[in-house]
Amino acid sequence: MIILAIDTSCDDTCIAILKIKDLRFKILSNIVSSQVKIHAKYGGVYPTLAKREHQRNLPIVLKKTLKKANPSISKIDLIAVTVGPGLEPCLWTGVNFAKDLSQKWKKPIIPVNHIEAHIAANFIKDLQLTRPTSPASELAGGRATHNLQLFPAVCLIVSGGHTQLILMSDFGKYKILGETRDDAAGECFDKVARILGLGYPGGPAIEKQAEKFKVYGLRFKIRLPRPMIHQKNFDFSFSGLKTAVLYDFKNRPVKVRKSKKYVQEIAAETQQAIIDVLIFKTLKAAKKYQAKTIILGGGVTANDELRKQFNPKLKTLNSKLNFLVPPKIFCTDNAAMVAMAGYFNYLKGKRKNWENIKVNANLKI
Ligand code: KG4
Ligand code: ZN
Repeated sequence: MIILAIDTSCDDTCIAILKIKDLRFKILSNIVSSQVKIHAKYGGVYPTLAKREHQRNLPIVLKKTLKKANPSISKIDLIAVTVGPGLEPCLWTGVNFAKDLSQKWKKPIIPVNHIEAHIAANFIKDLQLTRPTSPASELAGGRATHNLQLFPAVCLIVSGGHTQLILMSDFGKYKILGETRDDAAGECFDKVARILGLGYPGGPAIEKQAEKFKVYGLRFKIRLPRPMIHQKNFDFSFSGLKTAVLYDFKNRPVKVRKSKKYVQEIAAETQQAIIDVLIFKTLKAAKKYQAKTIILGGGVTANDELRKQFNPKLKTLNSKLNFLVPPKIFCTDNAAMVAMAGYFNYLKGKRKNWENIKVNANLKI
């Protein structure tokens, strides 16, 4: 089976081709056309500009993806497309493009939830499927050789638009345990980077500055809040953290604000505050729901410190806990993860005719 997948939920135009043969998955091609340079001057994504760019990019990216994978069109069995959540005008661009292809090639469409795709990113590998009876048993069965029992799993999905803790009892069965009440974690990285003049996207820029932070003779000893960390629920809030950075920044003399030491220290402290809250709440949820697996996904999980700091803390909870985190290229937006989620949805019989596919910008998992 060959699946062509499309994602235009935010500012990346993504198309990928996934092949499933002899119960093994292989990504034949995975192209991401980034609009970072266009949005950099706004310090965030500008939806109408993003839509225009998607319209311009989609045919070009399709051509490149097909050329790289080289499948004959007749061999493509399915088209998977992200229908939400995301920026509505951007989502429609991808969905309309998928509908056109569906009519032209006479192939069914599988609608995909972007958050579910971030979870599915963890399973993009040469996974040997052993018992293809249901998506969940495929996932578990594919790993049965390694004696892995995956569910229940607690998923932490952190991106520019979302910060959610999700309880997953099977593929396709989810319960949102908590989410951000204001800014997403990635949005906080982006806004702090903007205050510090570090450019967009903020996550990688903050990470770079934080890496440079060493113990200087002179330190500012900045301490930022860890919002909602000790509250009983599994919700998050990051806008106060951004405001705390803004106040600290404004209260410093201009000379200090512009110094490398200050920027590096406040970047390191912002990153650490976000990491502390994310890890603490994820582990608390894993404990409460007796999770067998912690699953990460979304752009923020490309952060090395976050990935690194999870590990020692997992051991304090349960030495048998599985920890899944996608390779970095599959953390940020891509269509390979959409193809993967599309395949699992296909197994559940979710294919549709193009007339019935709709966008839902606020789609819940
Ligand atoms: O998943 P994603 O590519 O797009 C959305 O679905 O939103 O996530 C983008 C977000 C941006 O806010 C970006 O700053 C953040 O992920 N990000 C990072 C890193 N790489 C991307 N945040 C922290 N550290 C990183 N290395
Ligand atoms: Zn995303």
